[in-house]
Amino acid sequence: MASDKILDSVDALEFYVGSAKEWSYFHQYGLGFKLVGYSGPETGVRDRVSYLLKQGDIKFIFTNTLFPTSPIIEHTRIHGDGVRDISMKVPDINETVAEIDRRGVVKHGPIKKIKTDNGTLYSSISNSFGETLHSLNDYGEYEDELPPGFKEIESPDIKPTGIKKIDHIVGNVEDKKMDQWVEYYTKGFGFDQLISFDDKDISTEYSALRSKVVHYNNRKIIFPINEPALGLKKSQIQEYIDYYNSPGVQHIAMETDDIIKTVADMKSRGIEFLSTPSIYYETLEDRVGKIKEDVDKLQELDILVDRDDDGYLLQIFTKPVGDRPTVFYEVIQRRGATSFGKGNFKSLFQSIEVEQAKRGNL
Ligand code: FE2
Repeated sequence: MASDKILDSVDALEFYVGSAKEWSYFHQYGLGFKLVGYSGPETGVRDRVSYLLKQGDIKFIFTNTLFPTSPIIEHTRIHGDGVRDISMKVPDINETVAEIDRRGVVKHGPIKKIKTDNGTLYSSISNSFGETLHSLNDYGEYEDELPPGFKEIESPDIKPTGIKKIDHIVGNVEDKKMDQWVEYYTKGFGFDQLISFDDKDISTEYSALRSKVVHYNNRKIIFPINEPALGLKKSQIQEYIDYYNSPGVQHIAMETDDIIKTVADMKSRGIEFLSTPSIYYETLEDRVGKIKEDVDKLQELDILVDRDDDGYLLQIFTKPVGDRPTVFYEVIQRRGATSFGKGNFKSLFQSIEVEQAKRGNL
């Protein structure tokens, strides 16, 4: 039925990285993910190794190739470590593809039928910004916990850090391309647009961006899309694009029910977060009103707070997780708020720019 939902939710994020084993280790010991699956020569996959990690509903796959002529190594040569595929679960691949074709905006590959001992998975790959893909996965007749080609793997018992699901995934695109990608999702898949900021909202003295948010299936899938705006100095979005050498995924926001616990835990494991100027906390309650959390505790951990008409949210951003100043994570706790921390953009920008200046890119 054309009026039905053609997408369910984000399935997994697959990263192409220079060392899948180290990325797996970092996410287990640093971020509290559980290593649940492995794919490689031992499981019959000859050209690559992949590690599948989970925490809550979040699934990350880290993939590297074993051969110097692979497109995977070309991807990491050009982009560095980054997100290759934001796969999405779909209720019925035939209906999804038929609706995408009817809409006529999104390109996709043929429906692949992947037969295993545990049933059949149907999948079609569509493109997105830069070299990012969306695999559209129909698990209707597939019963294994793990994707095809993966086997269970023995893994250390590491305590989770309390993140439970993906809140939103942000894409950075080139100047003047944001509206085109908003249309790609709204016209191509039937996403709705949420809110828009203009560059007056999101700027510091130096660098600026514009951002629009699209969502699908009652906010189950949320993709904010940023483009650089002109400032006195280089936009952080432009810095990303210069190092990623194309549009791509900028950050992945992961939700927790207790951000103080989650962030304290991650910091004790060596995860690096952006710092917040102390002046931010002096005026915090004037800006956001009364909150349940102890402001001293938030300041100690550099956690930011913002309020909208529906409530407030707490958030913090990691430093880039690879070597290039590209992809990073956000940890977010929502106390009613449905927005993304617009009020924090300015203070956040100032701390991003401190890091950008250290790299000589401001
Ligand atoms: Fe975010």
